Amino acid sequence: MGEYSWPTESQFKAMKEKVSELSGRGTEEVRVVVSPYRICPLGAHIDHQGGNVSAMTVNRGILLGFVPSGNPEVLVHSKQFAGEVKFRVDEAQHPKGIALKNSKIHASESSQIKKYSSWGNYARGALYALQSRGNHISQGFIGYICGSEGMDSSGLSSSAAVGVAYLLALESANNLMISPTENIEYDRVIENEYLGLKNGILDQSAILLSSYGCLTYMDCKTKEHCLIHPPKLLKDNKTEFQKAYKILLAFSGLRQALTTNPGYNYRVAECQEAARILLEASGNVEVEPRLCNVDPEFYEAHKSKLEHDLAKRAEHYFSENMRVRKGLEAWASGNLEEFGKLISASGLSSIKNYECGSEPLIQLYEILLKAPGVFGTRFSGAGFRGCCLAFVDTDHAEKAASFVRKEYLKLQPDLANHIEEKAVLICEAGDCAHVRKYTTH
Ligand code: GLA
Repeated sequence: MGEYSWPTESQFKAMKEKVSELSGRGTEEVRVVVSPYRICPLGAHIDHQGGNVSAMTVNRGILLGFVPSGNPEVLVHSKQFAGEVKFRVDEAQHPKGIALKNSKIHASESSQIKKYSSWGNYARGALYALQSRGNHISQGFIGYICGSEGMDSSGLSSSAAVGVAYLLALESANNLMISPTENIEYDRVIENEYLGLKNGILDQSAILLSSYGCLTYMDCKTKEHCLIHPPKLLKDNKTEFQKAYKILLAFSGLRQALTTNPGYNYRVAECQEAARILLEASGNVEVEPRLCNVDPEFYEAHKSKLEHDLAKRAEHYFSENMRVRKGLEAWASGNLEEFGKLISASGLSSIKNYECGSEPLIQLYEILLKAPGVFGTRFSGAGFRGCCLAFVDTDHAEKAASFVRKEYLKLQPDLANHIEEKAVLICEAGDCAHVRKYTTH
């Protein structure tokens, strides 16, 4: 249970055998990157504005088994995606959006870029990030990547988990010692510079910094972070805190990828516009237009200067920052009821103020609010697709899961039938991303 409940011994062994078969090398040479999915109970949609966020990982995610190739070739196969990804670490990588538009790129190079299967973008992006920041990469790897069944495109940040997995594999193959803080920046380079998504650093920070059972807190403006430890026992002095709750993930069946949805970058632009207006009103035109640069008291006094939609985005930012602060206290004192209430309030603000939820996700949120034993719920990730997360009383977790399955099927039969029994998963807290050479069991 806990930090060692994923990957299981048999998942770990199966991965080693698969890579050994693929590479023709012994299983003892295979290393495995364990890169968990993350949840963000409080602090949604404010990382890109330099806000305060809270996060943790779950005991599911990406496994990337690999052996250093002994030459510059990278070769990756995937359980979820067809074909193979093949490139050399001494080839120049170009950011996706810019590379295809750049007329200076030779025609044959440009058609090669188009031919790349898109699931390989994260591997190339990882190489791009490491090289563009001056790291010497001479060795590739032969690898096999697989995500926990049914959980891709689910708002649990499988994309950051994949990006981090490739970074750790390249670094390990090239004997580079890179700190989690540097990897947070490198994954930002993959997403912001290489893929063109204007997201914040919440996802990779959670994946790289989390520690089993703690809530990870991060100030996305200063990048300061810390782990919030809960008490060992609940108020009754008998129940172990970590055993008192489970993390329920309820999937909507909507799978559109974040990078193809204009909604995310559009909301970021609205927040920046709100910041720009408020900063201008305060005579502070020099600073970057991000809501973290607006004084909360100034916002309270001058929020009427914002038109309706921008006012709602700013309200989400300032109220969410406050919920994060209260949430840290609730977690530190082991008050799951209070923590849960804040999560549900955060979910409501995402719906009403940030206006990012799609109908099926809002329905799931409302069902979860009524499910037995649920302390609190909200959508996970950007909220346009994917799943809702909930903290639920361990004793009621199974009952809550079947309640949600039944009720969601009534409202969204097509989507629910598509995902069937995988519609709701009961998970536990996870650990941070790392490379494992030997089994720990
Ligand atoms: C996505 C983005 C993150 C964050 C969340 C919403 O997961 O990648 O940077 O903005 O949405 O909290």
